[in-house]
Amino acid sequence: MLNRTIRVRVPGTSANCGPGFDAIGVACTIYNDLELTLKGEEGLVIEIEGEGAANIPADERNIVLRAIRTILKRAHREDEVKGFHIRMTNHIPLSRGLGSSAAAIVAGLKAANALLGNRFSRRELLQMATNIEGHPDNVAPAIFGGFTISVVTRGRVECFSLMPRMPLKLVVAVPEFPLSTRLARSVLPEQVKMKDAVFNVSRAALLVAALTKGQPRFLRNAFADALHQPYREKLIPGMKDVFRAACRAGALGASLSGAGPCLIAYTLENEESVGQAMVEAFREHEIEAHALQLSLDAHGARILKHR
Ligand code: HSE
Repeated sequence: MLNRTIRVRVPGTSANCGPGFDAIGVACTIYNDLELTLKGEEGLVIEIEGEGAANIPADERNIVLRAIRTILKRAHREDEVKGFHIRMTNHIPLSRGLGSSAAAIVAGLKAANALLGNRFSRRELLQMATNIEGHPDNVAPAIFGGFTISVVTRGRVECFSLMPRMPLKLVVAVPEFPLSTRLARSVLPEQVKMKDAVFNVSRAALLVAALTKGQPRFLRNAFADALHQPYREKLIPGMKDVFRAACRAGALGASLSGAGPCLIAYTLENEESVGQAMVEAFREHEIEAHALQLSLDAHGARILKHR
C-alpha cells in the first residue's frame, strides 16, 4: 500500500435531472483526475491544477484527503499511513452544480480503496460517499456511471444504474457566478403540496421508463419539476428563459443541474445551437455563460494506472 502511486479519473455529474430531487443523477464526460501516494513518513503535499486551483484548500480541510482518511479508518489502516501526496487535475467547474465535491470524495475513496487492494465494493464506497456528501444523487453516478436512481432507507443507500437506449447528449450552460449548495438548499420549503409531489412522482417515473425503453418522445414532458426549481429560480436569473431557448433550439427538455447554477439540456441533436441559444438567453439577463457539449459517461470512477 505504501509508496505506490495510483491514478483515478472521476466524471462530473448532474443531479436531480428535473423531477428526481435528491434521487436521480447522471454522469457526464467531464473529468477530474487524482494521483495519490500514501507514505510511511510524515508529510502532506496537495497539488491542484485547473478548476478551483486558487480556491480549494490544500491542507487538512481538503475533501479528497478527508475521504482518504475515512476509508483508511474504516479499514483500520490509518496508523500505518503518516504522509499523503495528492495531485488533482480538475476540469469540473467548482460550485456550479456539476458534482465537483462528489467527484473529489469519490476520487479519494476510489484511489485509497485501490491502494488497499480493493477491500471495499462499489456499493460500500457509495455508502461512505453518501455519508460524507449528505445525499446520494451526485456520488452514485460518479461511482457507477450512466443515469442512477438512488434510494435511502433508514440511512442505507442503494442505487440502480442505467444507460438510456438512445444517443442522448447533454448540453450544459455554465454561468460565470458560483452558487453554494447550502444556499440553494436553504431556500427550499420544509413541506410541499400534494399536487406538486404528484407532478414530480409521475414525471420521475416517466423519465426512467422513457430512458430505459428508448422512447425520446416521452422525454418532452419528463424533465419538469415542481419541488425545487420554482424556489431556486430567484437565485438563477433567466432560468426559465434559458430552458425555453434550449427547447426552441431542439432540446427534448432542460433542468437545473443539481442545485445550480448550471442549467442542463437533454437533446438528441443540434448540441451546438442548443448551447448557443442557452448562452444567449442568459446574456439577455446580463449573465455571462459558456456552453459545454457533453455525452453520458457509462463507467463512473475508474483506475488509470498503478506505479
Ligand atoms: N440534490 C441536490 C440538490 C444536489 O438539489 O440540492 C446538490 O448537489
